[in-house]
Amino acid sequence: MAKALLKKLLPQSLFQKARKMYVPLAARMGRRSLRRLAELHGTDKVFGHNYIEVYSRHFEGFRTRPITFIEIGVGGYNDPHAGGQSLRMWRDYFYNGRIHALDIFDKSQHQGDRIRIFQGSQADRACLEAIHKETGDFDLIVDDGSHMNEHIITSFEILFPLLKMGGVYVVEDIQTAYWPTYGGQAKPGAEGTAMSFFRKLADGLNHAEYLIPGYKPTYYDRNILSLHFYHNMVVIHKGGNTARSNLISDGVLQPH
Ligand SMILES: C[S@@+](CC[C@H](N)C(=O)[O-])C[C@H]1O[C@@H](n2cnc3c(N)ncnc32)[C@H](O)[C@@H]1O
Repeated sequence: MAKALLKKLLPQSLFQKARKMYVPLAARMGRRSLRRLAELHGTDKVFGHNYIEVYSRHFEGFRTRPITFIEIGVGGYNDPHAGGQSLRMWRDYFYNGRIHALDIFDKSQHQGDRIRIFQGSQADRACLEAIHKETGDFDLIVDDGSHMNEHIITSFEILFPLLKMGGVYVVEDIQTAYWPTYGGQAKPGAEGTAMSFFRKLADGLNHAEYLIPGYKPTYYDRNILSLHFYHNMVVIHKGGNTARSNLISDGVLQPH
């Protein structure tokens, strides 16, 4: 309301100047609320989608810690000046964190205080490993990049092992699993999509209960603690899934 009025009353250059002074102050005051920061920085995580509640639920515990964060996708595509809204939101929310991002286009204009940006593809193993060499293991990873099913799966396969125990991996806009133009399948439940990839990982949560003598748990079986499916979003928590079954012994159900 006040913003709209000021925008109307002030000359454009003066409005921009006032905004430049106001945003850091307001961000400092509102940094406990991810929603407030999302609105302040104008990210589509709150305007285009309703992801903020989910993020608040899963990221709150990391807010004050000196975390290592990375988001795939800076935004604004081939316009070097456009995008960066979510990075500025994360920078203010995780005010002790190191914020990194990757984009296929040159987005270096958005680098700054605690924000480091890399250029490359999320499907390029060498690129992701080179980034990891500089950053070390990640506490939080967000995939908001190409949304191509193949890319989502490839990035997860490369990056999930580089996530710390206790860390969280988020995939946004997974509705592309149903869109053939993104490598998805129109039929719900179809094989080969990013959704079917993550659905299968959910089985692994119960690997200790399988009636398969000699079953060797996979890396994902052993290191995924929980998967959360939301509208257009998947959240994966990493941690040791080593609890034994109370009824299965070497793949055989015991009398009970
Ligand atoms: C939806 S936007 C990201 C929005 C931003 N995360 C936000 O919330 O404000 C997607 C971005 O992913 C980038 N992108 C597309 N394909 C990519 C790829 N293969 N690897 C890395 N980034 C890619 C695009 O250039 C674009 O800037």
